Amino acid sequence: MDDFNFIKTDDGSVGLYSEIANDILHSKTGALKEANEKFINPVKNHLKEKNNLRILDLCSGVGYNLKSAILFLKEKSVIIDCFDVNSKYILLSPFIKDSIEDIDIKLLILSEILRAGFSIEEIYSMIFKLEKNGLNEFLCPDMTNLIKLIEKEGYKSNPSNLNRSFLHNIYYKYISNSMKDCLESNKYEHISINFKVGDARESLKISNFFYDIVFLDGFTPQKDPTLWTIDFLRLIKTKMNKNSILTSYSKSTPFRSALLNLNFHVGKTFLDNIDMGTVASINPCNINSPLNEYDIKLFQTRSGIPYKDSNLNLSPSQILLNREIEQKKSNKQSHTSFLKEQRNIL
Ligand SMILES: C[S@@+](CC[C@H](N)C(=O)[O-])C[C@H]1O[C@@H](n2cnc3c(N)ncnc32)[C@H](O)[C@@H]1O
Repeated sequence: MDDFNFIKTDDGSVGLYSEIANDILHSKTGALKEANEKFINPVKNHLKEKNNLRILDLCSGVGYNLKSAILFLKEKSVIIDCFDVNSKYILLSPFIKDSIEDIDIKLLILSEILRAGFSIEEIYSMIFKLEKNGLNEFLCPDMTNLIKLIEKEGYKSNPSNLNRSFLHNIYYKYISNSMKDCLESNKYEHISINFKVGDARESLKISNFFYDIVFLDGFTPQKDPTLWTIDFLRLIKTKMNKNSILTSYSKSTPFRSALLNLNFHVGKTFLDNIDMGTVASINPCNINSPLNEYDIKLFQTRSGIPYKDSNLNLSPSQILLNREIEQKKSNKQSHTSFLKEQRNIL
């Protein structure tokens, strides 16, 4: 019915699979776990150190990185700019069963989605359709009940009233059984989220802000390289200051090679000794496990040729094709011959 399917992941949180991109949005080992391990842990010190942070959440749909960051930040003052091309994925984020118990995070996200201009009708009709198709088990019942109540009671007629404390009050008055104090509606008042729907290349071009932290969470580069090109990474760099840090789940060779080409200091993030992602910063002190000699040599081969998109407007297939042509024409060593050579050295 839709361009996505829900998937239950091993930590109890629900992830998505996109039919259009033919790609998973979240790891089967755990959508929430992945956000914590690949996006939050690598920048924990950074998140702790500074007050008044500004975070760029590139590809924020369904919101696991966003929620994990909010949970970690708790009382810190932060603005999070969330870009995603797919509005449905943004709308789903407060409703998906994410195994996060703190309902206030979902209320915060819903109120910020409304502030971004989405309508109650739009949200309600998406939830209604999902429920009609028997997909309730993937949604948080408290949140779906809340949206039904808002729709039924006609609160939608005055959207400016649907702010955080209003949502909080109707949630605790009519939906929740817990006798929670309404004063708690201020719990996340120090957090502001700006949702923007559209191609992140366009959204970032017109952003005037500098970011302390950048989450880069596009689809798999080999399937959709749009947000992994050297040109888009150059644009990201112009929005980072000397101490900013970018983190991503991807460890793809053309992505890491592009970052090095742009004079970023680049490192690996590890879990149980397994290389599972990348961090990059202009400041070398932010990098704990820099790339090694083997990686750097690998980048000199054809497999290190970055994806390119000089006007930031090519389609994924065009970017892939252009790189393939460039690789064929290149005099650089092939990946296979490099691997053979390395085996002989050992
Ligand atoms: C891996 S998922 C993101 C998961 C999300 N960060 C989370 O924490 O749950 C990839 C996302 O990239 C978005 N996306 C793909 N291409 C994009 C583009 N050019 N601009 C903006 N968003 C894009 C998709 O809509 C999808 O939501």
